[in-house]
Amino acid sequence: MKVRVLGAGAGGGFPQWNCNCHNCSRLRRGEVKTRSRTQSSIAVSSDNENWVLFNASPDIRTQLEAFPAIHPRHGIRDSGIKAIILIDSQIDHTTGLLMLRESTRPLEIYCSEMVKQDLSTGFPVFKMLEHYCGVNHHATPLDGSAFTIPEIPDLKFHTHSLKSKAPPYSPHRHDPHEGDNIGVIVEQISSGKKLYYAPGLGEIEPHVSEAMRQVDCLLVDGTFWQEDEMGRAGICDKLARDMGHLPQSGPDGMIEVLKNVSRARKFLIHINNTNPILDEDSPERKALTAAGIDVAHDGLEIDL
Ligand code: MLT
Ligand code: MN
Ligand code: ZN
Repeated sequence: MKVRVLGAGAGGGFPQWNCNCHNCSRLRRGEVKTRSRTQSSIAVSSDNENWVLFNASPDIRTQLEAFPAIHPRHGIRDSGIKAIILIDSQIDHTTGLLMLRESTRPLEIYCSEMVKQDLSTGFPVFKMLEHYCGVNHHATPLDGSAFTIPEIPDLKFHTHSLKSKAPPYSPHRHDPHEGDNIGVIVEQISSGKKLYYAPGLGEIEPHVSEAMRQVDCLLVDGTFWQEDEMGRAGICDKLARDMGHLPQSGPDGMIEVLKNVSRARKFLIHINNTNPILDEDSPERKALTAAGIDVAHDGLEIDL
């Protein structure tokens, strides 16, 4: 199985257009060892030709152009993208669908009923796409059961509901529903290799720990280092928890959680621009490295 990180940043990307935080300002001045990151998306394939896109970021044009294996090959209109799985209905994960409107066939979109509802009401991307290529919606299971995608027969997808947050424009923003956010185990049938992808992870429920223990590679929520990171940066008083993201530090943080997962290769993804781990020389980044945890970057390819 081949995994390509198209964008490893959280909403806003790194640097964010209007942000003058410690990281964004130092990146612009060339004063920090780091890399810029576009917004959150990955692509997965078993044959390096037919790809499942996970999330469609506002930066999708640049991300696809930077990745030859997904470019058109056959005929005047074509793409390596055979299906799209949406993790949630947030702007950073769904706005790129509008950029795919030139598709000559309906987009095959796999997402929860809740995400479909948000994308038909609060942010009506599905309705808008009806005037262009259209959408074939396939409902994803929420209980960890598996489904397959006809054009990518060697991959199996197990989806489960996660505790995170519906976006501000969701009709049920303050009334969490199963399926507002999902995690996915991608299994390659021919090799038995497994990946767990969960860029928005607010709480480690038992089925999440179980998923983490059974896979060969993790790409999980790396948004914030600290609960009050946005406040400390002088940006806003929203806590990581309010946004549905588990921070890395602290007694119940992601570093501690991942200590109990011995087998898998571990990567953080969906990194917010305020996160000190973006600075490759920071003590926070060194603490991650010492714990055997890597930080994903745009263009990273993982072979499983
Ligand atoms: C999130 O993951 O919390 C959201 O994507 C933030 C945003 O994009 O506004
Ligand atoms: Mn996000
Ligand atoms: Zn910033």
